Amino acid sequence: HNGKINIAIDGPAGAGKSTIARMVASMLSYVYVDTGAMYRAATWYLQNLGIGPEEVDKVLHSVQNLGIELMPGEDGQKVLVDGQDVTAEIRSLTVSSQVSRYAQIEGLRNWLVSLQRQMALRKGVVMDGRDIGTTVLPDAEVKVFMTATVEERARRRFKEMQDQQGITLEMIARDIAERDRLDQEREVSPLRQAEDAILLDTTHLTPREVAERIVSFSQSYGRENRNDL
Ligand code: CDP
Ligand code: CDP
Repeated sequence: HNGKINIAIDGPAGAGKSTIARMVASMLSYVYVDTGAMYRAATWYLQNLGIGPEEVDKVLHSVQNLGIELMPGEDGQKVLVDGQDVTAEIRSLTVSSQVSRYAQIEGLRNWLVSLQRQMALRKGVVMDGRDIGTTVLPDAEVKVFMTATVEERARRRFKEMQDQQGITLEMIARDIAERDRLDQEREVSPLRQAEDAILLDTTHLTPREVAERIVSFSQSYGRENRNDL
């Protein structure tokens, strides 16, 4: 074995998952996989075709042939759909406000979950999302459930989107609260903390502090389980 482990990071929007997962991956020389970007990419594609969430099952066969790629870019990860760079488009409020409705569809989830499992087969992956510790990688060696208050999460996301015209803090807070609700209440792999996940409240922590804690858990896991690795 290459001595590497898998790290699963779950939690609601704006908790800091992607920022911290990226930092942890770079500190450990691991690969970062942003599963939210995959749901966003599928949503962007379906919205462009005018296919609503309730119609996805009818086109599932062709959707499953869609090439979704995550690639390292200058600032963060680039997301390609059939070769087209959609990195900026998938962060728009048009996608954000609908993605949780598409993400409820079992057929769509099964397809993305199987892609995500393949990406983690060789270990050395930091994967973030909503169902990583519970469904995608239930055997991940380190699992983290990240939270922060909804006010703090909305403030963080607003700071990032201020340059998008017409966006207010209230709009973002509403979007986040509604997605929290849909993600927690859906039937197929809802957002919840895995029993063996470490709970990390990031409300009063900097990204670096959170990343250092996770790296230190991961390293102590490696020491305690050296014989298994
Ligand atoms: O970055 P942010 O936290 O706003 O969201 P994201 O991680 O990009 O995920 C967008 C949406 O995709 C979530 O609100 C979920 O509805 C869905 N998602 C999911 O269902 N399962 C995952 N593993 C990741 C995302
Ligand atoms: O991926 P997720 O939606 O959970 O959150 P994110 O996109 O990583 O974080 C949203 C914003 O909050 C980013 O701009 C981070 O820099 C910031 N953040 C923070 O200020 N303090 C933290 N402890 C974590 C994230």
